[in-house]
Amino acid sequence: MNKTLPAAALALALLTPAAFAQSANSQPQAAKAPATNVDLKRAQEIVSGRCSLCHGAEGESASPIFPRLAGQHPEYIAKQLADFRDGRRKGTMNDQAQGLSNDEVKALGAYFAQRKPKAYNVADQDLAAVGRYIYHKGNSYSGVAACASCHGPTGDGTAQLPRLAGQHAAYTESQLKEFNKRERTNDNAVMHAIASKLTELEMRAVSVYLSGKL
Ligand code: HEC
Ligand code: HEC
Repeated sequence: MNKTLPAAALALALLTPAAFAQSANSQPQAAKAPATNVDLKRAQEIVSGRCSLCHGAEGESASPIFPRLAGQHPEYIAKQLADFRDGRRKGTMNDQAQGLSNDEVKALGAYFAQRKPKAYNVADQDLAAVGRYIYHKGNSYSGVAACASCHGPTGDGTAQLPRLAGQHAAYTESQLKEFNKRERTNDNAVMHAIASKLTELEMRAVSVYLSGKL
């Protein structure tokens, strides 16, 4: 039985980019359209009271272990928050998301999506160049699909796919490791198939590359 698993995972990794790309094409601008039916004032209150300590009031977290949320897709933020609240995704965030209503979760997604992400410099350009290659071309020797085929050439993602551009390298790298070990407990099938084929150097390189993208 174990022998059939890698093949199934590979098929998934090879088949899904096209499926995701299609869904991306059908709603190109919908993802970050200004939200009209959400209570942004309530979101602001929750952010100042609970979230800004780690993620910053503008979604630009100071410490690299806390993900940047500025410019992230509202649907993706809302989904992850609901998953943390309901225990589907495990982590520090389980406590933080306790008691948030579905409306608050949606409003928080809209709040952070509307913050403007900032550009950051990358110190190690050689490492970033390795990461650029992996991101745009994958690794045909080990069967890694190009990240760009799902997350987009600019790293901006779609409503179902997180924006990766400008994310702290330490956070991106930690998530790749969690996907690999299936410690990221929600919806890890696609990213597990990919992360399990990345070397540590490739994980680090692609994370460093992404941290400098806007
Ligand atoms: C004590 C620090 C802390 C606080 C406070 C906090 N977070 Fe987080 N947040 C984290 C960490 C750490 C992660 C990375 C995932 C994990 O380990 O749980 C994270 C992850 C997230 C993610 C997932 C991002 C992604 O790219 O998948 C979202 C969304 C999020 N936080 C939103 C919020 C919101 C909204 C609040 C306020 C209600 C909040 N966080 C409060 C530390 C914090
Ligand atoms: C087949 C499509 C596909 C490909 C190819 C792909 N990803 Fe993903 N990725 C996803 C999906 C879907 C998610 C969202 C998982 C979820 O909903 O929890 C994701 C999530 C992520 C996350 C979590 C982001 C966050 O904010 O927490 C990271 C990091 C990531 N991918 C990095 C990569 C890298 C690096 C590559 C290339 C080596 C890559 N992905 C290739 C589909 C893909």
